[in-house]
Amino acid sequence: MGKVLIVEDERRVRDGLARALASRGHEAVSVANLADARRALADAALGCVLLDLHLPDGDGLDLLTELPAGLPVIVATASAESDRAILAMRGGAFEYVTKPFDLPELMAAVARALRSRELSRDAAGVPAARAGTSALVGGSAAMLSVWKLIGRAAASDAPVLIVGETGTGKDLVAQTLHNHSARAAEPFVAVNVASLPPTLIESELMGHEKGAFTGAIARRIGRIEAAGKGTLFLDEIGDLDPQLQAKLLRVLQDGGFERVGGSERLQSHARVVAATNKVVQPGHRDAVLREEIYYRLAVLEIAIPPLRARKSDIPMLVAHALRRTRARAVSEPAMQHLLAYDWPGNVRELLHVVERAALLCASDVIDAADLPPAIQAPTVAAASEDTLVLRDAVAALERRLIERALERSGGNRAEAARLLGIARPQLYAKLAEHGITRG
Ligand SMILES: Nc1ncnc2c1ncn2[C@@H]1O[C@H](COP(=O)(O)OP(=O)(O)OP(=O)(O)O)[C@@H](O)[C@H]1O
Ligand SMILES: [Mg+2]
Repeated sequence: MGKVLIVEDERRVRDGLARALASRGHEAVSVANLADARRALADAALGCVLLDLHLPDGDGLDLLTELPAGLPVIVATASAESDRAILAMRGGAFEYVTKPFDLPELMAAVARALRSRELSRDAAGVPAARAGTSALVGGSAAMLSVWKLIGRAAASDAPVLIVGETGTGKDLVAQTLHNHSARAAEPFVAVNVASLPPTLIESELMGHEKGAFTGAIARRIGRIEAAGKGTLFLDEIGDLDPQLQAKLLRVLQDGGFERVGGSERLQSHARVVAATNKVVQPGHRDAVLREEIYYRLAVLEIAIPPLRARKSDIPMLVAHALRRTRARAVSEPAMQHLLAYDWPGNVRELLHVVERAALLCASDVIDAADLPPAIQAPTVAAASEDTLVLRDAVAALERRLIERALERSGGNRAEAARLLGIARPQLYAKLAEHGITRG
C-alpha cells in the first residue's frame, strides 16, 4: 500500500494505470506533463513514480536528476532502446519497462519499489544522467536486462565481469559501459591477455624498469598506468596465466602493483572490466579463474546470452547491418533462413553474413540465394531436391550456385569465381564436372 505518482501524457494509459493501482489498494496521483510532475514531487508521502519518457513538454529522463533522494522511479517507454534504458538505469531508475505493459509484472515492480522506498527513506541522491550514443542494438527482453545491468554498473566503480560466447558483443558492452560511466572522459585501455605470452603480458600490464630484462632499454609504462582514472579492459581474462592472476588479484584488492624489475609501489585508480568466453565459475571442472579473482571480478557480472537464445533481435541487427551496405532490405525467405540458423559466431557472424550478402546480391534486396550455403542449405535442399543422397543434393545445389554466379557476372568466369569465393582453376574444374559450357 503506497502513494504512486503517474506521469503519463496518454489519458487512456494514465487512467488504466490509476485503476490498476487503486484495485491493489494503492493511492494514485496522475499528471500529464513534466511541469505538473515537478510540482507533484514536492509531496513527501510519495512512495514511487511511474514515469513515461516521451512527454509533451520535455524528456522524462530530465526528471530523474531532480528527484528527492530515495524515491524509486519506474521508467516506461514505448520502445526498447539501449541508450534510453542505460541512461535511465544509470540515472538511478529503479526499473525500466516497455509498453504495452505486462500489468502483473508492472504491479510487482511497483510493490518492490514501494518496499525499497520504505527501507531507504534517506538514501543518497542519484547521479546526473549523461548523454551518449551507443550502438548496442536489440529489443529482446534479454538485451533489455543487459542494458539495465550496464546502467547499474556505469553508476558504480566496482569491477565488472562480462561473460558470453564469442561474437556476442563483450567488447562493445565494455566500451558502452565506459562511455556511460563517470570515467567517460578518461582513457579506455583494452588489453587482450590471450594475445601475448605470460612474460610479455606482465610487462605489458605493469610496465617495466630500464634493464628489467634483456631488451628493456628504457622504462616503460604499462597499460594499468596508462588507464589512469579510466577503465582497464582485460579481454579474454580466462587465458591469464595463474601467476599473473595472483598479481592481478592485488591490483583488484587495493590497486597496488610494481613495474617489472622495479620496487616502487604504484597505485592504480582504474576501474577494471574483464571479459571471457570461457567457463569461469569456481567449482566447475572447467573453471579457469582462481576463486579469489572470480569473486573480486564478478561483483557485477553481465552475462550476454548467445544470439540463438534471443532470435527476436535478429531483424533489428539485420537492419543495423544493412545501414552499412548498399542493400536496402532482406527478402522474406532470406529472413526465414536468418531466423532459422543457429549462429555459433553470434552477432559478429550475422553482421558478416549480411554485409557479404549485400555485396553479392544483384538488386538492392538480399535474397535467400545470396546467403552462404550453410545458412540456406537446410531448406534449399529440402524444398527443391527429392533425393536424400547427400552427394547428389550437394552437387545439385553447387550447380545452381555456379549457374547463378555466371549469370550475375554476365559469363565472366573470374568474376564468378570471386562471387563464389573460390579460385579460378577450382571453378574451371567444377564447370567441367557439371558439364556447364555456356558463359
Ligand atoms: N547488440 C549489438 N548491436 C550491434 N552490434 C553488435 C552487438 N553485439 C555485437 N555487435 C558487433 O558484433 C561484433 C562482435 O562483437 P564483440 O567484438 O564485442 O564480441 P565479443 O563478445 O567481444 O567476441 P570475442 O569473444 O570473439 O572477443 C562487433 O562488430 C560488434 O560491434
Ligand atoms: Mg572480444
